[in-house]
Amino acid sequence: MSIDQDIQAARALLRKGEVVAMPTETVYGLAAPIDNESGLKRIFAVKERPLFDPLIVHVADIRDAMKVVRSWPAAAAALAKKFWPGPLTLVLPKAAGVNSLITAGLDTVGVRMPAHPVAQKLIRATGCPLAAPSANKFGKTSPTKAEHVRKSFPEIFIVDGGPSEVGLESTVVEVREGPSGTGLFLLRPGAVTKEMIEAALVEAGISISVDRLTSSASPGHTENHYMPVIPLVIVDGAMRLSESLRARIIDDFQLSTGSIGTELKLDSNPKLAARSLYAKMRDASDTGSEFIWVVRRKENSGGLWEAIWDRLERAASKTYPAPP
Ligand code: TXA
Ligand code: MG
Repeated sequence: MSIDQDIQAARALLRKGEVVAMPTETVYGLAAPIDNESGLKRIFAVKERPLFDPLIVHVADIRDAMKVVRSWPAAAAALAKKFWPGPLTLVLPKAAGVNSLITAGLDTVGVRMPAHPVAQKLIRATGCPLAAPSANKFGKTSPTKAEHVRKSFPEIFIVDGGPSEVGLESTVVEVREGPSGTGLFLLRPGAVTKEMIEAALVEAGISISVDRLTSSASPGHTENHYMPVIPLVIVDGAMRLSESLRARIIDDFQLSTGSIGTELKLDSNPKLAARSLYAKMRDASDTGSEFIWVVRRKENSGGLWEAIWDRLERAASKTYPAPP
């Protein structure tokens, strides 16, 4: 089937209240039209996702974004202008008509305009914005390829748009208007970095700083998330896994005595490291080894590395300090 036929097939399923997997530049999503309650319910059921975790609304144009929010502060307009379409989700006061399944009963809604042309086509073909979480079981590693989705959800129709270019979920920023002005809160770091957001605001002549809220501010971005099926550990600063550290890991996780871990080697270029991170996590889980270890080097920090380490820390069962 051609991609256009896939989109038509997906559209028909969506209109019937089914969910389909949609490619985006960040990760694959599990989509349902925001006006179709049975589809929205299916998302939570299929993902085994708790209802307290809100969904992101994906739009193909600004006009649709305007329909789901109650206000559109200058800071939101500036960020949308700079980073949409792209990996940035804006959390804003929700419009009255937005189904509370999407917002988990909150007064805010997350909106993003994906850059992937197939996602845009699917939203346009459906004629309605699509609510979509990442297409993985709740708490597990996000999919960056169609085959990842197929493995978790063999029964779901997938529109294959190739591997996701960014590889990490979108940056989530809440824009809050209060009596003392507008506040911006980074709820989840991503490829649109804090530095990029601050620079865009300066460029637009808006002076607000971006505060980093704790993970509890974003209901779904929990401490334990993105977890592979075998334990993943972070080793700070070491160049290799020493015998004594390996023995400690085996003991800590009650693994078999001879167990040899698999190293997850990060690309030194952060863009490539982000793009391949989840596929590498999955591959390392499939090697038959009992644990995954990843080295944190001092130079792998700042910019996009912050989002990469945010995900690795949430995926990790434990972090070991550098050996003396
Ligand atoms: O890149 C992405 O954002 C991908 C693709 C498919 O677009 N989607 C994604 O969705 O990562 P999900 O559901 O896995 O993560 C959405 C995150 C969750 O942590 C959720 O709690 C947060 O966004 N979120 C959504 N609406 C929110 C709101 N109104 N207030 C606070 N956090 C919100
Ligand atoms: Mg997710």
